[in-house]
Amino acid sequence: MCGIVGYIGKKEAYPILIKGLKRLEYRGYDSAGVALSDQNGIHLCKTRGKVDDLSAKCEHLEKSPRIGLGHTRWATHGEPSDVNSHPHYSNSGDLVIIHNGIIENYDPLRKELMNRGYSFTSETDTEVLVNLIEDVMVNEEVKLGKAVQVALNQTIGAYAIAVMDKKKPNEIVVARLGSPLAIGVGDDEYFIASDATPFIEYTKDAIYLNDGEMAVLRTHKPLKIRNIKDDSLIDPYVQKLQMNLDQIEKGGYDHFMLKEIFEQPSAIADTYRGRMLADRGIINMSGIEDNLDKFRNAKRIIIAACGTSWHAGLVAEYIFEDIARTPVEVEYASEFRYRNPIIGEGDVLIAISQSGETADTMAAIEIAKQNGAFVFGVCNVVGSSISRASHAGAYTHAGPEIGVASTKAFTTQITILSLIALRIGKEKGNLSKTEYFSYLRELELIPDKIKKSLVSNDHIYLVADAYKNAKNCLYLGRGFNFPVALEGALKLKEISYIHAEGYPAAEMKHGPIALIDEEMPVVVIATKLGHYEKVVSNIQEIKSRKGKIIAIVTEGDEQVKEMADHTIEVPETHEAFTPLLTTIPLQLLSYHIAVMLGRNVDQPRNLAKSVTVE
Ligand code: F6R
Repeated sequence: MCGIVGYIGKKEAYPILIKGLKRLEYRGYDSAGVALSDQNGIHLCKTRGKVDDLSAKCEHLEKSPRIGLGHTRWATHGEPSDVNSHPHYSNSGDLVIIHNGIIENYDPLRKELMNRGYSFTSETDTEVLVNLIEDVMVNEEVKLGKAVQVALNQTIGAYAIAVMDKKKPNEIVVARLGSPLAIGVGDDEYFIASDATPFIEYTKDAIYLNDGEMAVLRTHKPLKIRNIKDDSLIDPYVQKLQMNLDQIEKGGYDHFMLKEIFEQPSAIADTYRGRMLADRGIINMSGIEDNLDKFRNAKRIIIAACGTSWHAGLVAEYIFEDIARTPVEVEYASEFRYRNPIIGEGDVLIAISQSGETADTMAAIEIAKQNGAFVFGVCNVVGSSISRASHAGAYTHAGPEIGVASTKAFTTQITILSLIALRIGKEKGNLSKTEYFSYLRELELIPDKIKKSLVSNDHIYLVADAYKNAKNCLYLGRGFNFPVALEGALKLKEISYIHAEGYPAAEMKHGPIALIDEEMPVVVIATKLGHYEKVVSNIQEIKSRKGKIIAIVTEGDEQVKEMADHTIEVPETHEAFTPLLTTIPLQLLSYHIAVMLGRNVDQPRNLAKSVTVE
């Protein structure tokens, strides 16, 4: 939620900030702003709306300054408006701040500052923070870096911030707790951003600040990182970025979401590349090998995640129980953190997160760690908070996912979790050699089978056209494909704004069947392996109530074809891997419907890609 970007160096800051904000827009896009600093002061331009609106508004801004900050917002405190947009000035106009996160105790701080004569133009917690910093600077007569540190020690909440002082046009102070902050290190220049995408073409050297760390960035001076609480100096760890520019551009597709759907064959191959040698029966992931005992002896595996990642966790529950024979519980991280969960030594918590920044999932990790459980992170974003907070983990290597609706993250998460389950299943002796090899060989074929599924795109476009005006939609699946039904429904509602629900097919008769009439499209996952006959009966029940059936079937299926209004074929595979194929047409169906309805597919309303607030 919210993207922050900054630059200090020899180049003009403005184009770097605007380009950076465009890349971070997935994190929030209800308002945007920039601040540029030079000898004449700090010049600020901000607006409700997107980064394109900001560029239009900033046309007359003096663009020569070499230091600046930018922000793209997902509103938490205060509605999206020009006034609530970042950056925010302090009362004197000397300081300017950008902030991603939430200052939870902003209300008492605000009241205290008002008692001391401060006034506020916005409703944001951020404006409180910048004035608190100013107050410390004035009262304690300290420099900006120290004032930021003292002020942050009075706050409760989460932040990634960058602050500039009008009187020091060669300095930016940054700090983080709970929200991500990467520093790109160039040749006598620094870039700041919520992730590395804004500076990838300028430098491959990045420092990811850890929670509770701050840094003062100045030209002609080495960077210094300090612990916010105890002021100790911390050695910067410079990481080499693997990402390249092509990965974060649309590459000829109309939308990132479509590009990312079509990237799934290569993304899945990247997930298992170097980790699985199917013909030799090898699965080798250091995070697993180093902790094999923990997985082998686990009393229980608890999976904590949110949204689509939670759906991947549900698929993994079926796979783990089937192959690894370890009991699994799948938890919404947001619920888990506020229960009094029974978890302790001998339990393994797998935290799944594309962004690696989801606040609820982070909180679940902390609880698990406090109680002595072993935490394994499955993340896509390298260097993300969750990957660092976990005891061990595995990256999905899906490449940057920029469309807000998760697609390739889901299928690569299932892939890596399948590999883990297979490795443990083998270790525990649950699989015969033949079974084990056949799983591996089948997994290796999945990228090609997804390519075959993607060929149905034109056909799916026609199906989308037939149902684009539906008001509601049901998704049904059983077994491994029940979570796919949930995921299909989530994809449709989040990008098309059509109401959709996913159910286990057999649950239909316990309530949802009352909704079925000739207006109700029902998407049924009816692949051959996976309680086929039972699902066929469910289809009959829908048909006899005049519901419209869109069935996802195995290639060559004739029985369902005769009953359904539309069928979409996917190749046959092991039952455990069917979600990797059946998900594809559901993603495409949602995509086409959303485009036909004129929705902003990559940036649906009210959403953000990285949910760093509760
Ligand atoms: C849906 C979607 C969200 C995320 C959820 C968790 O398409 O993208 O439901 O899956 O916010 O995000 P991560 O995986 O980054 O923790």
